[in-house]
Amino acid sequence: MMFLSNLRLVDFRNFKELEVSFSSGINIFYGDNAQGKTNLLESIFYLSNLRSEKSAKDQQLIMHNKPMAYVKGVFDTRSGPVEREIILYTDRKKVVKEGGYQKNRWSELCEDISAVFFSPDDLLLIKGSPSIRRKYLDYLIYQLKPGYIRNLQAYYRIISQRNVLLKSLKKNPSLSDSIEPWDLQLCDAGSRILAERLNYIEVIDKYVHELFDSFCGGSPELNVKYFSSVRIGTRETIKRDFLIALKHAREKEISRAFTLNGPHRDDILFFLDGHDARFFGSQGQQRILALCLKMAQAGILANEKGESPILLLDDVMSELDFAKRRLILENNDSQVFITTADLNFIPDEILSRSNVYRVISGSLEW
Ligand SMILES: Nc1ncnc2c1ncn2[C@@H]1O[C@H](COP(=O)(O)OP(=O)(O)OP(=O)(O)O)[C@@H](O)[C@H]1O
Ligand SMILES: [Mg+2]
Repeated sequence: MMFLSNLRLVDFRNFKELEVSFSSGINIFYGDNAQGKTNLLESIFYLSNLRSEKSAKDQQLIMHNKPMAYVKGVFDTRSGPVEREIILYTDRKKVVKEGGYQKNRWSELCEDISAVFFSPDDLLLIKGSPSIRRKYLDYLIYQLKPGYIRNLQAYYRIISQRNVLLKSLKKNPSLSDSIEPWDLQLCDAGSRILAERLNYIEVIDKYVHELFDSFCGGSPELNVKYFSSVRIGTRETIKRDFLIALKHAREKEISRAFTLNGPHRDDILFFLDGHDARFFGSQGQQRILALCLKMAQAGILANEKGESPILLLDDVMSELDFAKRRLILENNDSQVFITTADLNFIPDEILSRSNVYRVISGSLEW
């Protein structure tokens, strides 16, 4: 089982200096508002996944008016302890080290280490814009297949160059043949992305369906559906239909100078007994659904990597009724970090087997 056994922070957000050890079970950070609970989870997430959940810029993680920040963790993994360090600078790229050696790519890092962040903002997965849902899906695929990101970046590069071309076609329609090679490239990269997303949507649907049932007792029935702007099929038919869709939309695209079809326009929707959860779900149902999406992410990672990710639960307990708080922590063998402003939100039998840390203005007491 993978877990974080030691964490050291220097000038990270409001933590001037911190050194702390953790055990593999449940760890609770409690304290008043604005003491550093979320910052601690963020540091663990950053160390594990090398990105910020809030997609904050690296520089924002550095304590105000400091030139750099340092984060170090020791992870217990099946291949022994792994020491990972990140040094962030205000004026240059971050440095990542493992076992004391600088690492420049993902593939060089221990792949057993990962974390999933649960935040009250997860509600945006249901209520926010389609791009939030696409990001959720893309990030999950990327965590399992690091090569996916290259294809995604290539796709977005083609889109932006193609959009520039569309704009110039508006002024100069005689050049319209010059778009064909772009269309072919777009369909090639786009069909790859779509096929991969459809693959994983099926897996996500299975997980979320089951999780939602366990929270809500089987009613209403939840379904996850991918809404594609290109007809869904095999990779080859997607590619063909994508090309046809582009031809059909050509005039409209030129007048708007924008690519109107493709995976960058798609969405993922959730249905409760067939009704769109955005419009017909209760607050509580939407919250639980968002939670299930993150739990599905953790479950899929655990299943495919053979190692459970660290779970970081930021303030999620207060939003659930008592029975559901327990459910989150049942049947999982992950290391868990929970933040709460009030220990009363934590069910007694969970509290009794947890390590409790108090967060007071950038320091920890235990
Ligand atoms: N780069 C930074 N440098 C210094 N302080 C920062 C930095 N970024 C955030 N802070 C401060 O860290 C403090 C703690 O923030 P954090 O979000 O961790 O609080 P919290 O304990 O989770 O509170 P809440 O219960 O309100 O969620 C805040 O006062 C915030 O302004
Ligand atoms: Mg917080």
